[in-house]
Amino acid sequence: MIEHSEVKVRLLNLYIKKYLNILSRAQAFEKVQLFDLFCGEGIYENGGEGSPIIFMKAIKEVYYRNQHESQKTIKVDCVFNDKEPSKTEKVKSIIEQKKLHYPFLGDLRFKNIDYVTALPLVVRQISIVKNSKSFVFIDPYGYSEVRASQIQSILETKKAEVLLFLPTQHMFRFEKKGRPTALHSFIEDIVPQKQWPNSHTGIDFIENLKSAFREYLGNEFYVDSFIITREKNQFFCLFFFTSHIYGFEKMLDAKWEIDSEEGRGWTYKNPDLPTLFNQSGSNRVNRLEKFFLSFLKESRTNAEIYAATLHQGFRPTHAVEVLKGLSGQEKISVTSNDGQKIRKGSYYINYNDYCDRPNRISINLI
Ligand SMILES: C[S@@+](CC[C@H](N)C(=O)[O-])C[C@H]1O[C@@H](n2cnc3c(N)ncnc32)[C@H](O)[C@@H]1O
Repeated sequence: MIEHSEVKVRLLNLYIKKYLNILSRAQAFEKVQLFDLFCGEGIYENGGEGSPIIFMKAIKEVYYRNQHESQKTIKVDCVFNDKEPSKTEKVKSIIEQKKLHYPFLGDLRFKNIDYVTALPLVVRQISIVKNSKSFVFIDPYGYSEVRASQIQSILETKKAEVLLFLPTQHMFRFEKKGRPTALHSFIEDIVPQKQWPNSHTGIDFIENLKSAFREYLGNEFYVDSFIITREKNQFFCLFFFTSHIYGFEKMLDAKWEIDSEEGRGWTYKNPDLPTLFNQSGSNRVNRLEKFFLSFLKESRTNAEIYAATLHQGFRPTHAVEVLKGLSGQEKISVTSNDGQKIRKGSYYINYNDYCDRPNRISINLI
């Protein structure tokens, strides 16, 4: 298994900077805790940088930027864990050599605990530190140690976000060949085995897994996937989990930014990411529009539409585009709920209105 994946690292980098920028300025938080539970060795033979180096560089950059702009900043305590002591030793010496850490940035600890033992300790640590938020990165070689219930226990603290890398292509191949026990247990944990749908392609497998995670975790938590293509038709996947709607929006921003750069970006008129990989032309419908054509049969407020859009893995700007399109075709009607006039083309689908004016307007199909 290739340890270093450039796309994975770019997503980590983009996201962690967005995350730290927001949290460092938020008045409510005094500390971020970052747990990299399968941290690897830092830098690989081909020179590629692994997760601990990406994290340390981002922390340093955000700190100095905030200082330069005279902004509030935040300490980030990092735990880098790998069951192989030689790997954390290597990470430690790279961080020292490259001067990536100073005590004023936060604590830095190295651990060599098996992931399964480490997880409950991490959950406890997240829970007990007041005014803190945590980010947990789970990047194993395989999936035999990983369970959905572990992710759930982290999310239930309501103080953490989780990024999980899964070798979905291998899982899909095993599913076809007859499941090994590890895959069986993994799936059985999320969905009763009889209800597990058949996957025809590696992308189908990812979609099925994402739906199963969403179903398992319920509406309170947000889940999305970011597909990484390694070789032709070899799809691996980062799953993102959070209980915080704004954190989720920022993750989706990072994801769509990379997708656009790679030419897989979403446009209203064109098929979106999963259908691009899907060879069959019949599937080429706009998934968000299709969703709205059913969701808006009932009248929905701007806050409900904001949350539902994110749950579907789309950004508020995507929703606005689709709503404008539907309005142009005279398929929706927009009603003001507070007596104030509505500007044409304004739908109030954003986080601020979600918090401050959740019931500003309602939209329904005509
Ligand atoms: C895919 S690599 C991690 C790559 C790293 N996140 C990066 O971006 O460079 C997986 C790592 O997990 C470690 N590992 C394997 N099983 C483990 C376990 N049960 N608990 C903790 N670490 C484990 C391995 O030594 C290996 O370094």
